[in-house]
Amino acid sequence: MVVSASAFRAALGAFATGVCVVATRDPAGRPAAVTVNSFTSVSLDPPLVLFCLDRRGSALARFEAAPAWSVHVLADGQEELARRFARRSQEALLSDPWAGLSWSDGEDGLPVFPGCLARLSCRAERVADGGDHSILIGRVAALDWRAEGRPLLYFRGRFEAVAERVAA
Ligand SMILES: Cc1cc2nc3c(=O)[nH]c(=O)nc-3n(C[C@H](O)[C@H](O)[C@H](O)COP(=O)(O)O)c2cc1C
Repeated sequence: MVVSASAFRAALGAFATGVCVVATRDPAGRPAAVTVNSFTSVSLDPPLVLFCLDRRGSALARFEAAPAWSVHVLADGQEELARRFARRSQEALLSDPWAGLSWSDGEDGLPVFPGCLARLSCRAERVADGGDHSILIGRVAALDWRAEGRPLLYFRGRFEAVAERVAA
């Protein structure tokens, strides 16, 4: 069966996800960040997570070379942050995604974006082949989260908010 790209995107777009911004620093110390919805947990013991990065993207080389990266789980209302780091590098050259952005350095030396639902500080564990993407697996070294707040969602190519909680 031949799967067309448009059918693949349409079908997989039906799988609603959260939205994360992954961040690292390149060997020169410059911060790098990308918006991803491919983030998922892998293992509890050891604590492993993964995300997938496009092999054609400019960010991959920097993430593959990095010994550590951070994952920020975005909250409802943080779509502006998500959009900043979802721009193609060509566009980013025209407007620096970091310009005017509120962020700081974490204890791990990696970028921290305020207002997220959770932040995971990860040591790079392994990079696996994932077709036209690379699968970056990290070991969680530190966690930060807040119990309140609602997630930013991505569904059928659009940002969404949770409309209501399903009764238990
Ligand atoms: C909601 C959302 C989720 C995304 N998820 C991923 C992802 O999991 N992996 C990926 O490589 N790109 C993903 N992208 C696209 C990247 O954010 C975008 O291609 C990248 O920032 C472009 O930068 P580059 O051209 O410098 O690599 C996503 C974009 C959006 C808006």
